Amino acid sequence: MTRPYYIAGNWKMHKTRSEAAELAKSLVVQLKGGKHTYLVAPGFTCLETVGAIVKGSNILLGAQNMASEEQGAHTGEVSVLQLKDLGVQAVILGHSERRHTYKEDDELINKKVKLALRHGLEVILCIGELLSEREAGQAENVCETQTVKGLAGVSVSDLERVTLAYEPVWAIGTGKTATPEDADAIHAYVRGVIAKLYGKDAAEKIIIQYGGSVKAENAAQLMAKENIDGALVGGASLKADTFVPIALFG
Ligand code: 13P
Repeated sequence: MTRPYYIAGNWKMHKTRSEAAELAKSLVVQLKGGKHTYLVAPGFTCLETVGAIVKGSNILLGAQNMASEEQGAHTGEVSVLQLKDLGVQAVILGHSERRHTYKEDDELINKKVKLALRHGLEVILCIGELLSEREAGQAENVCETQTVKGLAGVSVSDLERVTLAYEPVWAIGTGKTATPEDADAIHAYVRGVIAKLYGKDAAEKIIIQYGGSVKAENAAQLMAKENIDGALVGGASLKADTFVPIALFG
């Protein structure tokens, strides 16, 4: 089956509103007519600004994280209701920086996944192993556990609004990309995990992005692989010059 390619830019903790607006405007113009699915995920403070610019375009608006509770006494957190109020359509959850720097565990991430889906958002659920886990031969196990626990309680119909992003932690922001073959092997394995959980049809349909030092120079080779259906791009998404060639590949 042919799955659509889905290219997302995670702007992480970069850009003021005026910088974000400039990039978003440029992407709207340059990605117009692009044949893949696109998303940008600016920081919270830029969501409203960027949302107004991408509205009506072929670029979806995503957030980079979200609280696990709907609302209440949670100082410093941002709720799903607040994201929806800004027109956010999707949320990245379980990013390795959330898992490892901010100590989010699978249970917390699963709570967020279910809350986002309950409120009609799309989810990009990130999974991926540390270098030490890869060296110990644990990459598949780690990705399986993160997938199974992250999706616990998610129905097969809600799964249609879930994209997975395989981001090996050792490849993020390091310039080291997994080889297309290594990445594809994990993608295939994770697709098998989805087949076990949800059946073959759901597994065939689910989009699995690759993330970790994706650049124009390696994007096409990665996405040529059978099980790699797109990219979650960090550093190279911060400039139109580096993101557009990835987004328009093929
Ligand atoms: P880099 O593309 O900068 O390696 O970041 C990948 C990433 O973490 C996207 O979410």
